[in-house]
Amino acid sequence: MKGLIQPHGGTLVNCLVDDVRAGALKAQAQGMPRINLTAKQSCDLELIANGGYSPLKGFMGEADFQSVCKNMRLSTGEPWSIPILLSVNKADAPSVGSHVALYAPNGVLQGVMTVKEQFAHDKKLEVPSVFRTEDPAHPGAAQVLAEGDTCLSGPVEVLTLCVDPQGPEAFLEQRLTPAQTRAAFEKHGWKTVVAFQTRNPIHRAHEYVIKCAQEITDGLLIHPLVGETKKGDIRADVRMQAIDALVKKYFNPATTMVTVLPAAMRYAGPREAIHHAVMRKNYGCSHFIVGRDHAGVGNYYGTYDAQKIFDEIDLVALGIAPLKFEHTGYSKAYGGMVSGKTFPKIEGDIINLSGTAVRELLFKGERPPVEFSRPEVADVLIAAAKSGKLFVE
Ligand code: ADX
Repeated sequence: MKGLIQPHGGTLVNCLVDDVRAGALKAQAQGMPRINLTAKQSCDLELIANGGYSPLKGFMGEADFQSVCKNMRLSTGEPWSIPILLSVNKADAPSVGSHVALYAPNGVLQGVMTVKEQFAHDKKLEVPSVFRTEDPAHPGAAQVLAEGDTCLSGPVEVLTLCVDPQGPEAFLEQRLTPAQTRAAFEKHGWKTVVAFQTRNPIHRAHEYVIKCAQEITDGLLIHPLVGETKKGDIRADVRMQAIDALVKKYFNPATTMVTVLPAAMRYAGPREAIHHAVMRKNYGCSHFIVGRDHAGVGNYYGTYDAQKIFDEIDLVALGIAPLKFEHTGYSKAYGGMVSGKTFPKIEGDIINLSGTAVRELLFKGERPPVEFSRPEVADVLIAAAKSGKLFVE
């Protein structure tokens, strides 16, 4: 490879306007119809603006929506697995041709959009194709079902990337855009970079797959998702604290970067694995880790469904290479981390704690076994549990 991987579609999109234009838009927005974005829509708008969703230049129109749901491709042909929609209630939908002001959930004017298209939000198509279930209890499906019945699309101009710069989830120093991330990779002299997506603290199994991947690339991007997650997930600020503590002690700063991805989780398992990979391609990564039940929730997906889905798409057009890892854990018999691929399975050999068991330990102020979680990580989680700030509420 000559340089870094090309962005999806060939060009990194940038919808962020300069200060002069932002000032003018602020004044004009006063007279425009107002749309209050959900947290998910606000995350999506940031990724449209910063180029994380290249080649998208706005929320999807109907042709892209249909094509993504049915064929996992944009209407222009690039692989794409998750609809990026701005849906509102029909009664509030501004007409085609109008300019609308898009407000983040905290009331900040995030962007302005020119409405080019209005179409029905076909949830009967979206929900089963994206989530592979119609169960309204699935958190991603539930969210779509609660969204508006009418979608708006058209080009956007965005005034600010981080709508809450003082908030606990701003991570301003680590909130690099794809262009800034690519510049940092180039400064390091990296050509191949593996990205690790996570919505959890990094435990030993995560660490093991990361280290394996790191052996075959120039650089590593630990890229936790810090946009909207569901109630009961671990808070992004706590996760970041735990990740920073881990990386400081156990990773090589010459080959490791930790920055954040301001995306919302969909819990769409296989479809979301592709989506996560596409975003990381735009951030300049050549490889992407897909382990067990990637982006899964409950029992909706098989352990390796998120790996198998990569067989259904054109990997050349995808560009970024999935690195697939089997379920790993600490083997007592082996005395180290293994997967079923590297060491034979022995009943009861792997130290594997359920989420509930880990939570119970943390709330009692006890560290999980060191074979499961590093003490530095456990201590951050125990402190958060003690102060009642471990989970998203
Ligand atoms: S995710 O929603 O971001 O996928 P999580 O933070 O749990 O959830 O996982 C991050 C990455 O690590 C995913 O690629 C996931 O498949 C992988 N992973 C998590 N646990 C294991 C494990 N025990 N063995 C192998 N891969 C794992």
